[in-house]
Amino acid sequence: MAPHEKPLGDGTRSVHAGVPPPAQGAPILPGPTFASYFHLEGDPAAAAYVYGRYGNPTWTLYERALGELEGGAAVVFASGMAAASAVLLPLLRSGDVLVAPSDGYPAVRSLAQGHLAECGVEVRLVPAAEPPSDEALRGARLVWLETPSNPALEVVDVAATASRAHGAGALVAVDNTLATPLGQRPLDLGADYCVSSDSKHLTGHGDLILGHVAVRDAERCDALVAWRTETGAVAGPFEAWLAHRSLATLQLRLDRQCETALALAERLLFRADVLDVRYPGLPRDPAHEVASRQMRRFGSVVSFTLDGRGRAERFLAACRLVGQGTSFGGVRSSAERRARWGGNDVPEGFIRLSVGCEDADDLIADVERALDVSAG
Ligand SMILES: Cc1ncc(COP(=O)(O)O)c(C=O)c1O
Repeated sequence: MAPHEKPLGDGTRSVHAGVPPPAQGAPILPGPTFASYFHLEGDPAAAAYVYGRYGNPTWTLYERALGELEGGAAVVFASGMAAASAVLLPLLRSGDVLVAPSDGYPAVRSLAQGHLAECGVEVRLVPAAEPPSDEALRGARLVWLETPSNPALEVVDVAATASRAHGAGALVAVDNTLATPLGQRPLDLGADYCVSSDSKHLTGHGDLILGHVAVRDAERCDALVAWRTETGAVAGPFEAWLAHRSLATLQLRLDRQCETALALAERLLFRADVLDVRYPGLPRDPAHEVASRQMRRFGSVVSFTLDGRGRAERFLAACRLVGQGTSFGGVRSSAERRARWGGNDVPEGFIRLSVGCEDADDLIADVERALDVSAG
């Protein structure tokens, strides 16, 4: 881009991300390449693709797209947890210290407290809402942040924490799943790794499992690719292609979802029977000040608490437009009573609601009706 040119908007960047230069007679976005192996004569180093576990042209295009949006180099994995594992497992050795949220996504915590702790890694858990103390950072090898956190929607200052963590000699990874690269760019804020479950907003249709890690350092990128090749945590080409195709509408979907999420959260604040409404975009939310500094969009997830398990279950059953399920970020609204899983320290009536792309008026009316019905 020439210095005088205005940077492209998020919609333009999403639509064009990773699309190859036009070639006469070629499709705009090439379809998935289904190949377990590629024609290979002589020296393997001379071929771009040799075997389907090492690399695939469909991954390459999706990774280019993600790299453009993240401001780094991206490596795609079979799932968000495969992406998280690719950062955590090869980096941490016996005697290393991992600082991680005590109330973030439970599978990351159980991997840390289970496998990593068994391998001799010291795991220090700190609340997702608080920057780790100097004591927690002392001697740490890696600081894992999740912001906004799932499910409590806590936010932590990435730039300030990254600078303190680096000062203490630690690397920083941010799980950016709830924010997406259009909501915040952890690498710009000083993180060394940006980790994402692409099963959520990035793919956005609730029909596939995928993940990625973005980095700026070339050696770290090579190490992630080597880990993927060695462990076989590879994405299917069809999933990668669907993801790339869905990325084109990311800005459209996300803007609609964020706008409706804010409107819903604002409406819920007026209801005496809805407690602890959380949405980082709400000016009165405890996370709003930090969120507005580092986020450009506040995401699709709203959380709130109803009076007990029975009321929460009646509410969920009464919703017509909000499906029940354990994911978020999709075009169809969904919600769940998070305490049904155990493992998260949330009240029995805590609801995590993912706002989809329905018309805001319809969705809000449905939620209000379900609240009224479930109160009786
Ligand atoms: C914040 C967060 N990180 C990571 C994951 C794991 O992603 P996946 O289910 O794609 O493995 C999830 C899944 O819900 C998540 O919410």
